[in-house]
Amino acid sequence: MTTAALFDVLVIGSGAAGLATALAAAPRRVAVLTPGPVPALDGASRWAQGGIAAALAADDSPQLHAEDTLAAGAGLSDPEAVARLTAAAPELIAWLQTLGARFDRAGVALTLGREAAHRRARIVHAQGDATGAEVMRALSVAAATRSHLTLVTRRSAYALARDDGGRVVGVWAQGPDGSELWRARAVVLASGGYAGLYRYTTNPSGSDGSGIALALAAGAMLADLEFVQFHPTALAPRDGAHGQLPLLTEALRGAGAVLLDARGKRFMPVLHADAELAPRDVVARAVWREAHRGGAWLDARAAVGAGFPQRFPTVFAACMARGLDPRMQAIPVVPAAHYCMGGVRIDGAGATSLPGLYAVGEAARSGVHGANRLASNSLLEGLAHGRALGAALASQSLPGPGAALPASRFWHPLSAALRARLGDLLWRDAAVQRSGDGLVRAEAVLTQLAAETPAASSGHDVLALTAAMLAAMRARHRSIGAHFRVDAMVVPERSRAAIC
Ligand code: SIN
Repeated sequence: MTTAALFDVLVIGSGAAGLATALAAAPRRVAVLTPGPVPALDGASRWAQGGIAAALAADDSPQLHAEDTLAAGAGLSDPEAVARLTAAAPELIAWLQTLGARFDRAGVALTLGREAAHRRARIVHAQGDATGAEVMRALSVAAATRSHLTLVTRRSAYALARDDGGRVVGVWAQGPDGSELWRARAVVLASGGYAGLYRYTTNPSGSDGSGIALALAAGAMLADLEFVQFHPTALAPRDGAHGQLPLLTEALRGAGAVLLDARGKRFMPVLHADAELAPRDVVARAVWREAHRGGAWLDARAAVGAGFPQRFPTVFAACMARGLDPRMQAIPVVPAAHYCMGGVRIDGAGATSLPGLYAVGEAARSGVHGANRLASNSLLEGLAHGRALGAALASQSLPGPGAALPASRFWHPLSAALRARLGDLLWRDAAVQRSGDGLVRAEAVLTQLAAETPAASSGHDVLALTAAMLAAMRARHRSIGAHFRVDAMVVPERSRAAIC
């Protein structure tokens, strides 16, 4: 075991939330640990096609944006957290531009797109459908030039280091030469969510909940784990494939693309007044049902047609790589696990229930998203909260360095075979729709997987997080937002807040 230098702030994860935190924490000495060989490529941020929601239009306001966010959250969001976030959004866009982010424009003005459940056009994009990649490019370039910030690659955090008073004083990570202790006065989890555990997901494999799992193992409070958002339109996999699927951005439906069933008929207009732009959970369930009946297709021929390569270059490239030309044919789609509303519970200052530990982005449960996240609020949340947390850590006094007790766990990730079995069980029993019986069945399989995994290991901690997810899904008997129980009454929209 080696011990690295002491930093003021240690950030676990180099996605949008992590880099925003690290940049804003100057002049504190900050280290950012990331598992892969290239910073900023590990997390889900760079895959985000849809953009960043911000009330910038003359007919819009942070208040309207907040109302849409609260409606999507189905009454379970924290209104104060939502108001703070939507108020911060316009200035966040300006900050990203000062860092060099290039967003799409019509003349001098930013182009504002519309996505499901937004009552105004307020989505800022880059290169049509490559917003995450552009934001990560700008943040990475900035991070590489800041002398307060050290980017450390090939480091997988597997346990929180704590002192004898229970304070988090660093992180244990697996590096190229074995186990290392990274010490810090403040530790920030920016490690992303757990949607990548599902058999079909829009997330990279690194979105495996491992950061949340190490917080759980140390006793941090988690919340809202049952709320996993499924994107309605991922490119349908080839037979037998699993893991990350290319996303067909919701902006396509915003541009007029329609969903078709196996007979070539639209199925959304009879299900919801907003048809293809109904709330994401409603569309995801409809696509799930059609996918099980014979298939579902996204047809952008009339709405986008020949302009596809220019307007949606990322989606176009993904479809063409599969031999599908979206200018000429409808594209087969399935829902896929996309975003986790739940995570490590934080307060308005980003602090978790463990002293010394903070969380931002998808690893955190801030209360903004409630039972369902509004489209394009996730990059916004990660960036705005990261920036605010970094600035707070820069200005407040940090405690002295604590002495770390020995690690209570060891590095032993889930094998590929075990991970595939986990993905299958989640997909079958804990995905777009759930039932009490299915969740009990999933728990039994999970117990078997846990028996095949060494106790007190990082892989075991991910299974413990999965067990907490299943328990949360089982405990919530009624359907609300992204949590849909086929064995429960559907709660009418207006009474949702009263029930939970
Ligand atoms: C999309 O482009 O459809 C995804 C946007 C989001 O999840 O916020």
